[in-house]
This record gives sequence, structure tokens and C-alpha cells, in this order.
Amino acid sequence: MKALVITRLGDPEVLEVQQVPEPVPATGQELVQVEAGGINFADIMTAQGGYPGAPKPPLVAGREFCGTRLSDGRRVMGYMQWAAFAERVAASPALLWPVPAGWSAEEGAAFPVNYFTAYFAFWKAGLLEAPAEKTVPRVLIHAVAGGVGTAAVQIGKILGVEMYGTSSSEEKLARVKTLGLQHGINYKQRDYEEAIKELTHGEGVDAVFEMLGGEHTAKSARCLRGFGRVIVYGAATGQPAVLDARLLYAKGASVHGLWLTYLSAKRELMNQAWKQLSAWTAQGHLRPVVGQVLPLDRAPEAYRLLLERKNFGKVVLNIV
Ligand SMILES: NC(=O)c1ccc[n+]([C@@H]2O[C@H](COP(=O)([O-])OP(=O)(O)OC[C@H]3O[C@@H](n4cnc5c(N)ncnc54)[C@H](OP(=O)(O)O)[C@@H]3O)[C@@H](O)[C@H]2O)c1
Repeated sequence: MKALVITRLGDPEVLEVQQVPEPVPATGQELVQVEAGGINFADIMTAQGGYPGAPKPPLVAGREFCGTRLSDGRRVMGYMQWAAFAERVAASPALLWPVPAGWSAEEGAAFPVNYFTAYFAFWKAGLLEAPAEKTVPRVLIHAVAGGVGTAAVQIGKILGVEMYGTSSSEEKLARVKTLGLQHGINYKQRDYEEAIKELTHGEGVDAVFEMLGGEHTAKSARCLRGFGRVIVYGAATGQPAVLDARLLYAKGASVHGLWLTYLSAKRELMNQAWKQLSAWTAQGHLRPVVGQVLPLDRAPEAYRLLLERKNFGKVVLNIV
């Protein structure tokens, strides 16, 4: 079968479409004929060699996909750690979900990572339940125009959250506003910490979804109001987080880690998340934002869209 192979560690140019043996399902696994795959920042890190747990190359790339389950002919979307960008995958049934009616394969392939991650970010922030006090909760979402960012905005809108989001581009911010983002902050033009201070009248936000690392973890913590939470879930800058804990205890704030790889093994948690996400989807509140679709043999270019900040929402690869 045809698959996208990480031939050696490095930049997206190490990716090649090759013929590889079909996967042999382990006990309990299901075979899926894949139509489309969603690209994640983690795919870039896996190719570069920075992703925990990934085997050495040659390795079939890809963490999420949409296609047809061979056992019953149902359309499914799924999540795995690698090997998703191939004509066939052997997947765990616990991490396969039915594609909502009317969705394209590209939309299905754009769902699992973005929506489960965004959902768990709100969960970690303690914002899934209605607030005890009558204040409207505030969240700062970094990379708000990206895959996880646009999913978070759709969920935040349902939850009635006041959302502040950062992006490098006015055009991207204008597009996310149509999804429900109230306050866009262009970090190329404006310091986001200053912007948050001004927009919240010096009060700060209740949570920051932080996926940049480096100096941004402390900077994000400085954007919090009392008892706020920084949800750390990535390091797009390539730098480890730097944080002086005194920043936290001075205002009763906290930092929470979030990694879908870890959470996806927690069956009950995933089922609970899917129950809520599928209900919101059925009500018409959630629909993946697919910015760009490219064929498999243009994967290096597709990966580069994320690296060079040129993506809006999800970048999807057509596998067939
Ligand atoms: N922990 C988890 O389980 C988990 C799950 C999913 C994703 N993540 C993390 O969440 C982040 C977003 O992932 P995604 O797949 O949804 O990607 P994405 O947000 O669709 O794409 C990356 C975006 O990040 C922004 N960005 C800011 N600084 C950047 C930098 N130094 N280099 C490149 N991009 C930068 C760019 O948007 P602007 O131009 O608008 O700034 C870029 O378009 C990544 O850090 C990823 O590792 C973590």
C-alpha cells in the first residue's frame, strides 16, 4: 500500500510517499481504509525527532485519519500515535468514532486531536461547569487561528466564555472572529500581556491555553487573575517552559499539563469527552475548520504551512 514515510529525522523534506506492507491488526484492532489524514504540530516534531515515544525512522507518519472501517463499512475518524498517513491503518476501536452525518472525510480527519485537546483544556481549566459566581469566565487562547485554537473557540462559544486569542495575522484573527472569538490580539503588532491588561481593565483572565513554551509560560501566568490556571500543552517555540513559581503562589494560580497521548489511554475520560463533543456536534455547534487540503505527495509543503504559520484551522492530506 501507499504511505507517507519519515525516511530519516529532519525537516519536512524527509517525508516520502512509498510502498510499504499493509498493517497486520493486533488482537482487537480494526482495519480502516483511509481517505484523509489531519496534520498536527506533533507530526512535525515526530519527523524532527522531538516527539516522545515515537520509534526511529523509517516510520509511517500521521496521528489522525478518516476512512471506512472494513468490518462493518462504517465511516470512522480515528487517533493513533503514528502510521495514520497510509491507505490502510490498524486502529484501536476505543479510538475510533463515527463520522457525524454530512461531514466530509477532510472534516472527519480534522476532528480527533483538535477537539479532544480543546475539550480537555477547558476541563483542566475547570470551565466545563457553570461558574459558581455570576462572572463570565475569560480565557486567553494562543495560536487561536490554528487547529486546536479554532476548536477551542467553538467550544468556548458554547460555554459562554469571553475569549481572547493571539495570532500573527489580522486576516486570520478576522476569520476566527466569525467563529465567535471576541478579542483578537496580533502579537506581531502588540504585546499580548499588555493587551490582556488593557482589555480586562487590569484584572486578567481565568485561564491561558499555552502551547508556545519558553518565556511564554511565565508571560501567560502574568496574564492570569487570582486562582487562574495556565494549561500547558505544547512548545511551538521549541523552547522548554521557563517559570518562576513565585508568580503562581502570589495569586493562588496553578499550571496544569495536558497531553492527549496520555489522556487517550483513559477510556472513561475519553468516553465522557466524546459524549459531550458528539452531543454538541449533533446540535450543530461544532464543525472542524479545514483551511487547506493537499494530496499525499505534497506532504512536505503541507507540513510547512504549519511551521511557517501559514495555516488557518486544519491542514488535511488526501490519502486516496
Ligand atoms: N498536548 C497535546 O496533547 C497537544 C495536542 C494538540 C496540539 N498540541 C500543541 O498545540 C499547538 C498547536 O497545534 P496544532 O496542531 O493545532 O497547530 P496549529 O495551531 O494549527 O499551527 C501552529 C500555529 O501556531 C502558531 N505559532 C505560534 N508560534 C509559533 C512558532 N514559533 N512556530 C510555529 N507556529 C507558531 C502559528 O499561528 P499564528 O501565526 O496565528 O501565531 C501556527 O499557525 C502545538 O504546539 C502542538 O504541539 C498539543
